[in-house]
Amino acid sequence: MSGKTTFTMIKPDAVANGHTGKIIDHIIEKGFKIVAMKYTRLSDEKAGEFYDIHRERPFFKDLVAFMTSGPIVAAVLEKENAVADFRNVIGATDPQKAEAGTIRNLYAKSIDANAIHGSDSDENANREASFFFSAFERF
Ligand code: RTP
Ligand code: MG
Repeated sequence: MSGKTTFTMIKPDAVANGHTGKIIDHIIEKGFKIVAMKYTRLSDEKAGEFYDIHRERPFFKDLVAFMTSGPIVAAVLEKENAVADFRNVIGATDPQKAEAGTIRNLYAKSIDANAIHGSDSDENANREASFFFSAFERF
């Protein structure tokens, strides 16, 4: 059975555009419990490490530049089937293709500035959550 933990970041575009509160409400209304949350800003090194899997991709440099361009909100979320259900809540990577009512459909402008991150596997959810929070910081 799939796990009950996922990890999210409200990205710099959504924070700068004042969408943080609405996105947090949206996440809670979809049945996710917030068990840890942090308002912070990524360094180049940390953003690169976070997206290490994309290091060889042509968009990597732009991705790191964007993710370090302003503060983000990082959070650990819990729900049954958390990873897959949360990917449905955020919608497709390209907001033009994101289903109506998803967070990216509502709040994202482009594939680069796409408002929110969601883990893509249980393994990455745990890796990403540990990247920002130690176990005793989760409630
Ligand atoms: P994320 O990890 O941020 O939740 O996004 P994702 O799973 O939907 O997409 P992923 O493939 O992991 O890509 C990470 C971020 O890189 C940018 N990207 N640009 N130009 C492109 O073809 C392209 N592909 C990906 C996006 O900003 C994406 O969120
Ligand atoms: Mg991804």
